[in-house]
Amino acid sequence: MQYLSKRLSVIHDMVNSDVLMDVGSDHGKLIISLVRDNKIRFGYAVENKSGPYNRLVENIKKENLLDKITPMFSDGITDLKDDVDTIVIAGMGGFTILGILEAHKEKLSNIKHIIVDPHNALKDVRKGLANLGFSIADENIVYEDDIYYEIIDFVPGHEKYSDEDYCFGPILKKKRDKTFLTKWAERIDEIDSILDYHMDDISEERKTSLQEERKRISHIL
Ligand SMILES: C[S@@+](CC[C@H](N)C(=O)[O-])C[C@H]1O[C@@H](n2cnc3c(N)ncnc32)[C@H](O)[C@@H]1O
Repeated sequence: MQYLSKRLSVIHDMVNSDVLMDVGSDHGKLIISLVRDNKIRFGYAVENKSGPYNRLVENIKKENLLDKITPMFSDGITDLKDDVDTIVIAGMGGFTILGILEAHKEKLSNIKHIIVDPHNALKDVRKGLANLGFSIADENIVYEDDIYYEIIDFVPGHEKYSDEDYCFGPILKKKRDKTFLTKWAERIDEIDSILDYHMDDISEERKTSLQEERKRISHIL
């Protein structure tokens, strides 16, 4: 069994699928463990760069899983197969993830879950996926190697979200995990320290924007 990082373990546990496509599989650890643990029946592991792709194929072969995981040298969801019910896109920037999905939005009509782990632009990802006709079924937050990761499970739907929901996550906001509260308390401390110690170095515009952000965060804590 391959060792999964805390972040990949959370993604693994959020999967409820039959056939899954893991876009940007890299080493393939996630998809290999999903098959090994019978969390999925079949998987497609997609890579668009030859280094990671060759390593991915090697790892799938080493685990003797070529009958259960098809490696694909392909870009995003360009070659999405009809039998796929779940797409995972993890470990990339938010706009890259959005770009991958928006480039072939017509292919998403049969998809039941899109699980993403964007490393930034969380608000844009939530908004973008809502515009593509998906709503948020679950969210989790993980702290690993000094980074907070938010993992979101989207399902088809048309929920109405507020700006606050897009920013903090409608489910994370309700769950109020310790990790979630710590992340935003730390951001308040960061803002306070900028406002206290760099007051003279920042523009009025930046000051106002930080004060507004602080107010938004205080509202959910
Ligand atoms: C940082 S790694 C993340 C690996 C793994 N998903 C994880 O979360 O640990 C991102 C991987 O996505 C691949 N990638 C980036 N854009 C892609 C695209 N458009 N199509 C397929 N793979 C892509 C990169 O080659 C890289 O191996």
